[in-house]
Amino acid sequence: MPHRLIDLIGNTPLLEIEHRNSSRVRIGAKLEYFNPGGSVKDRPVKRMLLAAMESGALQGRTIIDATSGNTGIAYAMLCAEFRLPLELAMPENASEERKLILNLYGAKMHLTSPMEGTDGAQRFVQDLVQKQGDRYFYPDQYNNDNNWKAHLETTGPEIWEQSDGQVTHFLAGLGTSGTFVGTARYLQPKGVKCLSVQPDNPLHGLEGWKHMETAIVPGIYDAGLADDVLEVDTEDAFRYSIAAAKYLGLLISPSSAANLFAAIRLAGTLESGYIVTVFPDNAFKYLKDRFWSEHDYHIADPFH
Ligand SMILES: Cc1ncc(COP(=O)(O)O)c(C=O)c1O
Repeated sequence: MPHRLIDLIGNTPLLEIEHRNSSRVRIGAKLEYFNPGGSVKDRPVKRMLLAAMESGALQGRTIIDATSGNTGIAYAMLCAEFRLPLELAMPENASEERKLILNLYGAKMHLTSPMEGTDGAQRFVQDLVQKQGDRYFYPDQYNNDNNWKAHLETTGPEIWEQSDGQVTHFLAGLGTSGTFVGTARYLQPKGVKCLSVQPDNPLHGLEGWKHMETAIVPGIYDAGLADDVLEVDTEDAFRYSIAAAKYLGLLISPSSAANLFAAIRLAGTLESGYIVTVFPDNAFKYLKDRFWSEHDYHIADPFH
């Protein structure tokens, strides 16, 4: 029996997703919201924090990072477990639920301009660290190799084992790009085609995702890695969040639904195969988003 919360991270279930072409192409989704912090970001944050603690670099300094929310929640949970001081910068328009959760874990928050997204939060932290470097330890998830290595060591092998080595395609959306880069570096050498997914324009509504052409490109991003790049319209992600709740019994976030939409669209183009994607988090932090009520609840079943 694990004695520490941190030891419960990873080994999330791979769920078979039923869809119209299931007889030819299987789709599996890693339910990353089974992690104790409720998202995929528990994995990289665990590796970044353990590396910091083991290296002795913390020395009583306050941990600080920029986050769209999920990384912050993972930091806040683990910093509470290990009693480490934490400050986070995030865009002011991050969902209320995220801010509430961070407050409950006791993290100090710096809210940055909603117009600048996570890029603004990143710039804020860089400024602060430049001015008061001795006070802070800045893991910098966008440039920290422990981010993608967490997926190389855990997400990739889990997908390989849970699919009995049958996976033919892996796809995932890009935020810091850690999930995609690390998992692809494990699966691609085994012959798995790896496709990255992006929002189709800079002004998208997919929390946690970046539009790489117009964003600050993370240092850990490897633009040459993907076998192909898929694009998803935010509206399709919103529709699939609603449809997944109604027809699959899955309350998933827009970014999970965007991965699901991309996987189903890809399945339509294949003769056979086994596509695996990730659902980074569930819908619990987005329940107050307007799209749930603005869209037609009588949306037709796109899966069966
Ligand atoms: C909801 C959500 N989806 C996807 C991602 C992207 O994951 P990664 O940073 O590994 O690219 C994030 C990252 O914060 C996220 O919060």
